[in-house]
Amino acid sequence: MTHAQNAPDSSPANPKALYGGTSSRRITVRDIAAAKARGEKWPMLTAYDAMTASVFDEAGIPVLLVGDSMGNCHLGYESTVPVTLDEIAVLSAAVVRGSKRALVVADLPFGTYQEGPVQALRSATRLVKETGVGAIKLEGGERSAEQIRLLVDAGIPVMAHIGLTPQSVNAFGGYPVQGRGEEAAQQLLRDAKAVQDAGAFSVVLELVPAELAAEVTRTLHIPTVGIGAGPDCDAQVLVWTDMAGMTSGRVPRFVKQYADVRASLTDAARAFGADVTAGAYPAEAHSFH
Ligand code: KIV
Repeated sequence: MTHAQNAPDSSPANPKALYGGTSSRRITVRDIAAAKARGEKWPMLTAYDAMTASVFDEAGIPVLLVGDSMGNCHLGYESTVPVTLDEIAVLSAAVVRGSKRALVVADLPFGTYQEGPVQALRSATRLVKETGVGAIKLEGGERSAEQIRLLVDAGIPVMAHIGLTPQSVNAFGGYPVQGRGEEAAQQLLRDAKAVQDAGAFSVVLELVPAELAAEVTRTLHIPTVGIGAGPDCDAQVLVWTDMAGMTSGRVPRFVKQYADVRASLTDAARAFGADVTAGAYPAEAHSFH
C-alpha cells in the first residue's frame, strides 16, 4: 500500500451530497435520484413542528417527513388512524417554515386517498398548495398505484410506503414483520415494482426482512428508505421521538436511540420546579427594576 493510500482522505465532501453537502437551496426529488445514481446513503427523520424541523435542518438531515406517526408521537392518539388532513396540513406548514434546505414530505392520512385517484389528488393538491411541502407520501403498493400515477401526472412527487403500512393496523392486528415466506416476499417485490412503474420517486420499506429489502433495493432504480428493513436500503428513516429518546416506554427493536431527551427534559422540569418552590428562581439576574 502506498503512503497516499494510507493518508486520511482530506478531499472536501461532495458539495452535492444530500447529507454533508454544501448546497443551501432546497433539496428536490432530482437530488434524491442523483444520490441513488451515486450510491449515496442518506438519512430521513420525522418532524412535526417548526422548532424541531429547524434543528434537524441545521444538522443537515436532507429529508423531513411530516408523518402521520404524529398521531402517536405528537397528538396523543393510539395509532395513526385518527389523524386528519387538517392536522397534517397545520404541522406540515410549520415544518416547511422551520426548515430551509430539507425536502419536506407530508403523509396523506388514512381515509384521504383510499377512495381512488381523484380523492388522492384532491388531498395531495391541498397539502402542496397550502403548506409548501415538496412531496407527498402514501401507503400501499399495487393497491395505490393508480393514485400514485395521477399525482405524479399532476406534478406532485410521491414517496410510496410498502411492507408494514401502519394505517392498516386493524387489518394486520398489530405491527408484524411483513414479507416473510415466499408468497409474501413475491407480493412485496410486485408492490415495489408497481409503485416504481407508477412514478414514485422513492419507496419506504417498513418492517421487512433485511435480505428482502436488499433485493428490492438492488432491483429498483428509485431509492428505498428503510425502517426496520436492514442496512442495505438506500436511505434510513426513524421517527424522531424514538431516535432521540423522547418516546416513553418500549421502542421497536429496530430503533437506535441517539439521545435521552426525555430524561434531560424531566431533569430540567424537576430542577425548575425545585428552584421555584425554594424561591431560588427568579434570582436577581432574572429580575427587572
Ligand atoms: O408516519 C411516519 O412517521 C412514517 C415513517 C415511519 C416512515 O410513515
